[in-house]
Amino acid sequence: MAEEFIPQYGLAGRIKTAVGDMWAEGLFPPADTHFYSAIYHDWPPEKCRFLTRKSFDSLPSGGRIILHEMLFHDDKTGPFPVAAFNITMLLWVTGQQYSGRELAEMLAEAGFRDIKVTPTFGYWSIVTGVKP
Ligand SMILES: C[S@@+](CC[C@H](N)C(=O)[O-])C[C@H]1O[C@@H](n2cnc3c(N)ncnc32)[C@H](O)[C@@H]1O
Repeated sequence: MAEEFIPQYGLAGRIKTAVGDMWAEGLFPPADTHFYSAIYHDWPPEKCRFLTRKSFDSLPSGGRIILHEMLFHDDKTGPFPVAAFNITMLLWVTGQQYSGRELAEMLAEAGFRDIKVTPTFGYWSIVTGVKP
């Protein structure tokens, strides 16, 4: 699907896709940015930490990780639609919705710096970090 959308936005020269199993041992193919959209919420924290470490090890210095998720408030009091989505994740997969603070901590733990939580659209945000 990404291959279909990338040229529609004139980004064919800047974005590549790669088919693969993200749980495979070894590094991801060379890239300067890793974009995980609605991936971390499918998995428990230890699996998310695995992906974060794998991205950190695979990216070059200056490389960036971007996590796109519907975030809980840091104190987990809401928003209500995120809490409702969280129930779906708990029942349907092994994941959960995370707060910006939880994802920022995961990135920091792996070694990413310049970590930012930025609202994007509706209840969605991106959490970004840069490899020193
Ligand atoms: C919730 S969907 C998110 C899809 C898309 N990124 C989006 O934002 O709409 C989770 C995605 O993880 C992919 N996925 C699950 N296990 C995977 C694995 N082992 N390696 C690579 N992708 C995997 C699924 O194929 C699915 O497309």
